[in-house]
Amino acid sequence: MKTNYSQYQTTSAEPIAANMLESFRAVGYSMEAAVADILDNSISAGARNIWIDFDWKGADTTFAIKDDGCGMDNDELINAMRPGSKDPNEERDARDLGRFGFGLKTASFSQCRKYTVISKKQNNDSCFWTWDLDYIYHHAKKWELIASLPPGNWQEQIEALTSGTIVIWQDMDHLLKDTPVDDTKAKRKFLETMQLVKNHISVVFHRYIENNKVKIYFSDRGIPAWNPFMITHDATQNFPEEPLCNGQVRARGFVLPHKSKLTPEQFKEGEGIRGWNANQGFYVYRNERMLVSGGWLGLFRKEEHCKLARIMIDLPNNLDNEWQIDIKKSVARIPAGLRDQLKAYASEVRAYAVEVYRHRGKVMQRRSTSSKFEPVWVEMQKDGKRYYEINQLHPFIAQYDLKTLRPLIRLLEETLPVPLIVINESENPDSFFRPYEKTPTKELTDLIKTVYKSLLNNNAPEQAKNRLLLIEPFNEYPELIESL
Ligand SMILES: Nc1ncnc2c1ncn2[C@@H]1O[C@H](COP(=O)(O)OP(=O)(O)O)[C@@H](O)[C@H]1O
Ligand SMILES: [Mg+2]
Repeated sequence: MKTNYSQYQTTSAEPIAANMLESFRAVGYSMEAAVADILDNSISAGARNIWIDFDWKGADTTFAIKDDGCGMDNDELINAMRPGSKDPNEERDARDLGRFGFGLKTASFSQCRKYTVISKKQNNDSCFWTWDLDYIYHHAKKWELIASLPPGNWQEQIEALTSGTIVIWQDMDHLLKDTPVDDTKAKRKFLETMQLVKNHISVVFHRYIENNKVKIYFSDRGIPAWNPFMITHDATQNFPEEPLCNGQVRARGFVLPHKSKLTPEQFKEGEGIRGWNANQGFYVYRNERMLVSGGWLGLFRKEEHCKLARIMIDLPNNLDNEWQIDIKKSVARIPAGLRDQLKAYASEVRAYAVEVYRHRGKVMQRRSTSSKFEPVWVEMQKDGKRYYEINQLHPFIAQYDLKTLRPLIRLLEETLPVPLIVINESENPDSFFRPYEKTPTKELTDLIKTVYKSLLNNNAPEQAKNRLLLIEPFNEYPELIESL
């Protein structure tokens, strides 16, 4: 039934400008998420270059983001400054990174009390407008922009571009309230925040940077890309792509190489800023722009032994509702209808990651040959519980007559300190020695030689060596086997 509104008396209930703008400030952006939201606009405007810079002056510091995108004319700029400048339900260009028509305002106000946008469209005069919370609070008491420019050569900068836009933040009270210009401690803290901004950009926009779609400079130095997947490394395991939602959404799993397969530099690169454990999980992209970096979106917990698993998910920009993309573009939720499928896929990737983690990357080798891998310990199950037994078929162990030693072996098997090992490994990952790492090489070589000799009874030398490569822990030392 359609409501007939003409029957009602009406009254205006306009929002109180100052209160409303103050509330914008509480959306909860971090500095880095706020900057990323401004960059989204630059990229959507077709920018090839983006320059981020600041001029340290304590509380009077300015922070600016300049782009050489299409720019805006005066009317467009005023509309861009308007909260809710676009209908969130409106279909957008497939490359557009915006959605709610709020980002410029909410991101800027989250960090500062006053910001100016100066813009120039090709063959147009430049224009600028400023939102100033103090002006609105104490003077205007309504939604009113002022035509003021912060001190500096902003106009010259914009005129130097064919087209482009500069967003200038002033009065950044959250970071710099009442900070004197010579407060070195505050300055150090500010620079640390700038480092966070750079790191965030290198992750969130890595595809744009890698593909040379856009160059992003911080204080005139290009920000490098951080790709989470180590795609070009030989030992990275690639899972087949899983199409979801009729192919609109794509998931692709990766298991990154075990530490033993990486040089220290590669290990550091793969670890990223947050470390291996924190970087496991889903990486959700919307139009090539990363929304979520790591974590399992509520499907699983982060676990030490799954830390090599990373899964790429690609979304178009017309599924924002389904994935509940928030204003800050830092949250996404898996739609109920996709949970089971995505969980099954992620479980496979995680299971493989666990194998690589446990066997130090030797899994491939074990799978690709017909001979069997001989571990020292084998995992057993009974009544749904696990325990570990010595593998009596292991070629070294099999040389002994174990009958008389049975009670001793039983004692060792029954008292293996599993809980302690688990706790230590989760609290201090990678802090255990490899087998024989702390033992003199001679001892290990002697051990290998003994087994090699016994293998030579039934095998040609080359065959015997190949078998050694499949016997724990000799598989960890192929160079010793080779030198036999
Ligand atoms: N750097 C820029 N270059 C050109 N246009 C811009 C720029 N920043 C903002 N705009 C315009 O302002 C509008 C509002 O931006 P914003 O508040 O971030 O909301 P949204 O990105 O969701 O549309 C954009 O849709 C765009 O038309
Ligand atoms: Mg935007």
